[in-house]
Amino acid sequence: MSGLSLSLPKRWQPASVWALYVVGLLPAAWTFYLGATNQLGADPVKTFELFLGLWAIRFLILTLAVSPARDLLGWNYLRYRRALGLLCFYYVAMHFTVYLVLDQALDLSAVVNDVLKRPFIMFGMAGLTLLIPLAVTSNNLSIRKLGSKWIWLHKLVYIIAAAGAVHFALSTKVLDLEQYVYVGVIILLILYRSWRPIGRSRKRGQGRERTRAAATAS
Ligand code: HEM
Repeated sequence: MSGLSLSLPKRWQPASVWALYVVGLLPAAWTFYLGATNQLGADPVKTFELFLGLWAIRFLILTLAVSPARDLLGWNYLRYRRALGLLCFYYVAMHFTVYLVLDQALDLSAVVNDVLKRPFIMFGMAGLTLLIPLAVTSNNLSIRKLGSKWIWLHKLVYIIAAAGAVHFALSTKVLDLEQYVYVGVIILLILYRSWRPIGRSRKRGQGRERTRAAATAS
């Protein structure tokens, strides 16, 4: 199998997850450095905000891509899914913090007005709000305590992805190629997730048919 987690020696696998957190946070550290040294262009706050939003959506896509990559390509990156999801949350949280502190100067009534006035901010807020319970329960203790409820709760990630994609698409008047690609990939990943249970039950049905046919033949 070609999965990275399978080709790495077992004792290095936990370290590779930590390495992912470090590498995943490098873009934020790098932009923070550029901002602190005045190298973010004419509108540094906006550049910083957009950059963090873009990385949030990239990690969201990577998180959603883990299952299809395993089903369709046999790449087993399940070990990295929690880190990818949490990295998405960290970037959304930083994106929101820049908006709240640097854009809106901590004026909460201005934020509430903005949420009510601009639909794309409302979708962003919905995405952030739904991400919080997922981030809080992304640990082994919550998985054990919540059992099957945990699986249902974490299906919210598809609603978050839809909210994030709408937020992204509405954030500018003219979509560029990168936006079309990200929104298109999110739509495909959501469609794949909706089709997956049907595909799986068909496969199970075919498996049963084959077993029955083999039993009848013997
Ligand atoms: C799931 C949650 C979210 C995701 C994935 C996300 C992602 C993004 C992305 C990808 C962009 C466009 C970046 C670009 O065009 O280069 C963006 C723009 C923006 N987002 Fe978010 N965002 C989220 C939540 C929020 C929240 C909670 C707020 C604030 C309440 C917010 C405020 C903004 C603002 C102000 C812009 C800039 C629009 C502009 O002036 O061009 N976002 N976001």
